[in-house]
Amino acid sequence: MNRKPLRVAIAGCGSIATTKHLPFWRELAMEDRVTIAAVCDLDRDRAQACKDAFGAEAAYTDYDTMLEDAKLDIVDVCTHNRLHSPFSIAALNGGCHVLVEKPMAMTAKEAADMVDTVHATGRKLMVAQHMRFEAHAEKLKAVIDTGELGNIYTARAYWLRRRGIPGWGKFHIADESLGGPLIDIGVHLMDLCLWLMGSPKPVAASGQVYRMFGDREDLVNAGWDIRYPRSEFDVEDFATALIRFENGVTMNAEFSWAANIPQETLGVHVLGDKAGVSTSPLGIYGAKHGTLTRTTFDWLPEQEGHRGEIRHFTECVEEDLPVRVQPEESLYIQKIIDAIYRSSEAGRELPIE
Ligand SMILES: NC(=O)c1ccc[n+]([C@@H]2O[C@H](COP(=O)([O-])OP(=O)(O)OC[C@H]3O[C@@H](n4cnc5c(N)ncnc54)[C@H](O)[C@@H]3O)[C@@H](O)[C@H]2O)c1
Repeated sequence: MNRKPLRVAIAGCGSIATTKHLPFWRELAMEDRVTIAAVCDLDRDRAQACKDAFGAEAAYTDYDTMLEDAKLDIVDVCTHNRLHSPFSIAALNGGCHVLVEKPMAMTAKEAADMVDTVHATGRKLMVAQHMRFEAHAEKLKAVIDTGELGNIYTARAYWLRRRGIPGWGKFHIADESLGGPLIDIGVHLMDLCLWLMGSPKPVAASGQVYRMFGDREDLVNAGWDIRYPRSEFDVEDFATALIRFENGVTMNAEFSWAANIPQETLGVHVLGDKAGVSTSPLGIYGAKHGTLTRTTFDWLPEQEGHRGEIRHFTECVEEDLPVRVQPEESLYIQKIIDAIYRSSEAGRELPIE
């Protein structure tokens, strides 16, 4: 079918935009499905370099001017986290569909405002949870959807880095980014875990966060360059939590940018009364024929999650289909994050409204 290419703009020309978004938008541009209509960054040189490298029609330094001028269908928000909600809402109100990097917002209130704006405008919004588009995740979801696990009662999401504090950008500043590993890497694993669990409604959280390394002058970050003054670091570098969902289902969560552990580990386990699944080691675990069993996958397709997410979002806009990462699911995650930080301060479990 002949249709006009969708006009896409990318807000924020930093690391994720240039390495994981623009290359895949350019692929779609080469297929005539999109036009990279504009790129925008506060830093003029960065915006211009991005325009040149990815063949955008125009480069802007002011987001509102871009929204007014560029006649856009899609805005891809790749700025640091403080701008996710205001930029997304402005784009939705301007008639655009929005792909926005994780975490959805700085607070559950901001995230709820985004969901309300989606409903008010009838536009689509998807948080860029690329892990849902990786081959093993799709396979496990398909297995779970057959009912093979029985009743799912508990799960675990974890990503523990021994050392790996992001030293660039604004990851280390709470006012710009909200938090540390919980909202940076934890949000990916929690999103994947909740999706595999069937997106249950969270009702309470007990969490504790710690800042043990990131502000220390003697920090050894094992090859990760640290460019920030240590005194600026005011987010956590370790987070642990127990989340309760409706019907007594639970999720245990643990995330670090730095911890004195033997090695980095990450994954999700989802446990049912008939079987469980794990991403690491990948498989389905249970008991059959009077013994313990595991099913692994000898072959899965090569699938880059970011490419899958961008192609999926484009198809949803082209064909008016529901997006895989529903904004209401991302609001659940944001409520969990809010509750973990509040619980950590209060020193006790707190309800999630
Ligand atoms: N999905 C993933 O795996 C993944 C990985 C890394 C980062 N991220 C997310 O991507 C986002 C950006 O991270 P990054 O590592 O690219 O950060 P970055 O600091 O490299 O890039 C952010 C860019 O936004 C620009 N910017 C700031 N204010 C702006 C404004 N008002 N208008 C236009 N541009 C503005 C900055 O100049 C910078 O170029 C964050 O939300 C982060 O959580 C996602």
